[in-house]
Amino acid sequence: MKNYLVVGNPIEHSYSPQLHNYWIKKYGINANYKKVKLETDDLKNLISEIKNKKVDGINVTVPFKREIIPYLDKLSSESKDTQSVNTIFLKDNEVFGHNTDIEGFQLAIKESKYDISKKRIFIIGAGGVVPSIIYALNKMNASNIMITNRTFRKVENLKNTFPNLIIVDWGKVPDFDMVINATSLGLSSKDQINLDFSNIERNKFFYDIIYNPKETEFLKRARELGNRTDNGAKMFIYQAAAAFKIWHGIKPEINEDVIKLLG
Ligand code: ATR
Repeated sequence: MKNYLVVGNPIEHSYSPQLHNYWIKKYGINANYKKVKLETDDLKNLISEIKNKKVDGINVTVPFKREIIPYLDKLSSESKDTQSVNTIFLKDNEVFGHNTDIEGFQLAIKESKYDISKKRIFIIGAGGVVPSIIYALNKMNASNIMITNRTFRKVENLKNTFPNLIIVDWGKVPDFDMVINATSLGLSSKDQINLDFSNIERNKFFYDIIYNPKETEFLKRARELGNRTDNGAKMFIYQAAAAFKIWHGIKPEINEDVIKLLG
């Protein structure tokens, strides 16, 4: 039996085991996928489990997507450019790190039939998944990418990696075509993002990386103001599907039953 893990801290909320175990069963693979809460000190041992083949693949989530990098032997170009790894496996006896969040975001946007090219994008937040989103937006030819974050240092760091970023002061709302909530605000129903979108034109695209709850306050208010909205469910499913394809060589089907697994 092959063993797969998703590691993070916190990890309770992760739906990765539901998705992977559903596909493992569907395609008759002899494997098991579990979630494990880790501390930074555990990362080195974790990677030795891949080396000695006790673990066959690992998904990495917040806050370790960057921290895991020093323990890996090789990185894909996407992981290098974003300094972010979410999928690990052994390849020619070397521990290889890849980033499927980029593909996840790109495929999700493609499926929503929104054309990013020449659009002005406003990102709120600078957490673990943001480098992947910026990388994907650049690939999709966004005309400009504006970003704001409560902690300024984090957007400054991102600008070192992506010099085309335009930093917006926290609390300000610039002119945009699409806005992405990439903060953790909205995970709890009491959370509010203190930005005022009531004066912008209608028919903007509001996207939330959060998929549980399905409709955050951010999306609800945007919808009520007459805008288009989408949550992060498809992005999450596509990044999982890409990891599944790497590990098992099968491109898993994404249908209504899979979407229902996210609650
Ligand atoms: P990590 O930062 O560990 O990668 P994350 O969940 O991916 O974690 O990111 C959290 C994001 O939500 C950050 O942009 C964070 O802002 P800070 O960089 O200032 O911490 C943002 N966030 C979380 N709580 C917030 C709050 N109460 N107000 C504003 N932003 C918040």
